[in-house]
Amino acid sequence: MRTESSPTISRNDYQPYPYALPRVELTFDLDPACTRVYSRLHLERQSESPEPLVLNGEELALESVSLDGRRLAVSDYRLEDGRLTLFPEAARFVIELVSTCRPQENSTLMGLYVSGDHLFTQCEAEGFRRITWFPDRPDVMARYTVRLRADRARYPLLLSNGNLASNDELPDGRHEAVWEDPHPKPCYLFALVAGSFDCREQSLDKDGGGQALLQVYSDRGSNSKTAWALACLEHAVRWDERRFGLKLDLDRFMIVAARDFNMGAMENKGLNIFNSAYVLADKDTATDAAYRAIEAVIGHEYFHNWTGNRVTCRDWFQLSLKEGLTVFRDQEFSADMLAQGLTGTEARSARAVKRIDDVSTLRIAQFPEDAGPMAHPIRPESYQEIGNFYTATVYEKGAEVIRMQHTLLGEAGFQAGMAEYFRRHDGQAVTCDDFVSAMESVYTRLHPGKTLAVFRRWYSQAGTPRVTVEVSWDPAQQACNITLTQRNAPAGIEKLQDPPTAKPPLHIPFAIGLLTREGKPITLHHEGRQSDTALLELTEASHTWTFTGIPESPVVSLLRNFSAPVIVEYERPDTDLALLARHDADPFARWEAGQALASRQLLAMMKTGEAPSALFIDTWQALLLDADITDAYRARVLALPSDRELLEKTTPMDPLAAVRACRHLQSALGNRLTPYWMDVYRKTAADAQADYSPDPASAGRRALKNLALSYLMAAGHPDAAELARMQYDVASNMTDRMGALSCMLRYGASGVAIQVLDHFYQQWQHDPLVMDKWFALQATAPDATVETVRSLMLHPAFSLRNPNRARSVVFQFCMNNLQGIHGPGGYDYWAEQVLALDSLNPEIAARLARAFDSWSRYADAPREGMRAALEHVRGHAGLSRNVSEIVNKALK
Ligand code: ARG
Ligand code: ZN
Repeated sequence: MRTESSPTISRNDYQPYPYALPRVELTFDLDPACTRVYSRLHLERQSESPEPLVLNGEELALESVSLDGRRLAVSDYRLEDGRLTLFPEAARFVIELVSTCRPQENSTLMGLYVSGDHLFTQCEAEGFRRITWFPDRPDVMARYTVRLRADRARYPLLLSNGNLASNDELPDGRHEAVWEDPHPKPCYLFALVAGSFDCREQSLDKDGGGQALLQVYSDRGSNSKTAWALACLEHAVRWDERRFGLKLDLDRFMIVAARDFNMGAMENKGLNIFNSAYVLADKDTATDAAYRAIEAVIGHEYFHNWTGNRVTCRDWFQLSLKEGLTVFRDQEFSADMLAQGLTGTEARSARAVKRIDDVSTLRIAQFPEDAGPMAHPIRPESYQEIGNFYTATVYEKGAEVIRMQHTLLGEAGFQAGMAEYFRRHDGQAVTCDDFVSAMESVYTRLHPGKTLAVFRRWYSQAGTPRVTVEVSWDPAQQACNITLTQRNAPAGIEKLQDPPTAKPPLHIPFAIGLLTREGKPITLHHEGRQSDTALLELTEASHTWTFTGIPESPVVSLLRNFSAPVIVEYERPDTDLALLARHDADPFARWEAGQALASRQLLAMMKTGEAPSALFIDTWQALLLDADITDAYRARVLALPSDRELLEKTTPMDPLAAVRACRHLQSALGNRLTPYWMDVYRKTAADAQADYSPDPASAGRRALKNLALSYLMAAGHPDAAELARMQYDVASNMTDRMGALSCMLRYGASGVAIQVLDHFYQQWQHDPLVMDKWFALQATAPDATVETVRSLMLHPAFSLRNPNRARSVVFQFCMNNLQGIHGPGGYDYWAEQVLALDSLNPEIAARLARAFDSWSRYADAPREGMRAALEHVRGHAGLSRNVSEIVNKALK
């Protein structure tokens, strides 16, 4: 039992590994029941005198150890608790190890495991130690030769990193493939795949000459669903050449889809392994959102080839070095894809759609994390289980911190900084500080006398800064004064310290604009430039800027394009928000103003049951009628904040009231603006039968159509149910089908919904990814209870062992169904599922465990219920290190 005893690993304890490992030779006798691994490690001591050699291993059976060809006796080494210690005396030597592992019994999906009829690996962060004894840390980089042997009939395809050197028959129906990876890599980037797959491939002229082979492997029978993935891969290669000047450094780049996968995907060198949800798509089974997500994840993993693989992390505290940077790159890739072929305002609004979606994710996933018991800086100071730190903070806030550097340096400066980063560190394992130093070298050149010293605090401070704004206009001087004041309150564990840690100010790039009372932009003179947008750099607790030549009291547009991951506090009348929602030239800030207005409305409705104001209805009506905005953007500005977003804004948190307010406002807007919604619906539905294409304009049209339908359904419009039913029946693609079905489940008569769900099941039961949607729709239906999800779990197609399926039922219910989880028996259900998952897959269990992170901010009754459930989990004997860290921190 590990419950109280998991050691805490601290960033400051880093020590370099005392050995270099130039070469590794691995031989696998692959067998799902018992795989034998022969490993030869060529080691070179880095210090003057002998040092113990420590290797990591987990769930392995050690068969033999040799040193320079001499077999060691048990007394020659120490084997304890995940560590194998040898005492070599020579400065260069070869260790040979033979061990076995049991893929079939491996339900953690870390290390070597079975999925369907295939064998896969997942090594990041510390999974390689479940395959063989090894220095399992990212700063030990080696060149690998991998020999894979297996039964040919069962495993006709044997893949690993790099290039195929040979593929030969062996006796007894077995065969052998040898792979050589020319690039030194840490073991977390190792991968192997064995099985029988379909393959879609294309060759690509590499920038600078030569050809590369791009391949997408998937389950037999699914080749018709990999065209989009392969196209996305090609787009990603081209984009990285064009925008970052980074070329593919491989002759062969492979993607393999796995049904059972803990996360989204993994960037193993030249052999990416993906959750099949981020590979497979066709118009009948994938929604527009799924197409976009596939593009983002394929981009993400491909971009890791440089940011992560060519330059990797010195230790796992530096995770954001590769993840924050790579998320920033994939966000920019997606935005550029949305804006392809567009210019000017249209391009800006296309990019804003992506920005809006990313900021919504940040607010719903990262802000609460930063305010809760798991709060940590993007470069954490300590952890018990690194698997718990693949967080929204490291990824999404990490990307915001990179984006701020991009904002401060500009595109050209940022690219110069990237070039400098690779010039300094290609082939190395480095730190976040090294990255900032490369950027700083350019920043200081562009802005003599300025450094990123204050900016670096973003890497060591947790918590979301609050920025208060004061604006005054001086009619005599025709001047506008803007004061920004930042507050960095203690976050998470810092709050518990006595006295709570006081935190110094951060370097916050804060973009603003000024509008006239008619909504016209005012040109600003700032730091020698003239523009509608000024970038204020707040580096102290408080600072005031003065803008002259301002002829009237302006309306301020704040934090344009969300230029920093902060919360803005500014009191202003609803009329100003309404004006910005209609006229702000910055499409992000414009959306933001509408959302702020809607949030105020929702909060007022929660308190007093107040009906929506005329101003609010008028604003939504104006947005419905604005001829100058695209469908995709319109769908964003007309959508209301989700119940989870609203809940985050209430103190104490009252989930049921938040759900009620959201429904109420949706139906009120549906009612008051019925003819307009109807008109939008008719116009956007007209081309439902046209050939499906996932392009942004068509997807935007479908998004707007489904939004209009949801308003009409929420309003209980007499024709709406019929429209939904018809949309479902004639749908030529999954977006329309799902849009209709989810409206029916959310707002329709339950009898009809059940009938349609059944039809959906009959049609798609053979397709696991569609069945995930079928399960998720039911788990998030407003009338779903613990009984509903329990009976879904009894369905023959349900399995807790498949993470996608567990997520579609258990996670969806616990995290996305506020009424359900906070209803009768919800908390007990959560505790039960955390424990059930923990015995199978601790990493997944720990993610579910985090659903109650914010328990202490809730009203009395839910708070005490969640606390009791957390205590129940904590009291359970034999908790994994993963879940134990989460529940102990939650209850601190
Ligand atoms: N590096 C992968 C990605 O960003 C995530 C892998 C995390 N794996 C894990 N078991 N925690 O795409
Ligand atoms: Zn990543």
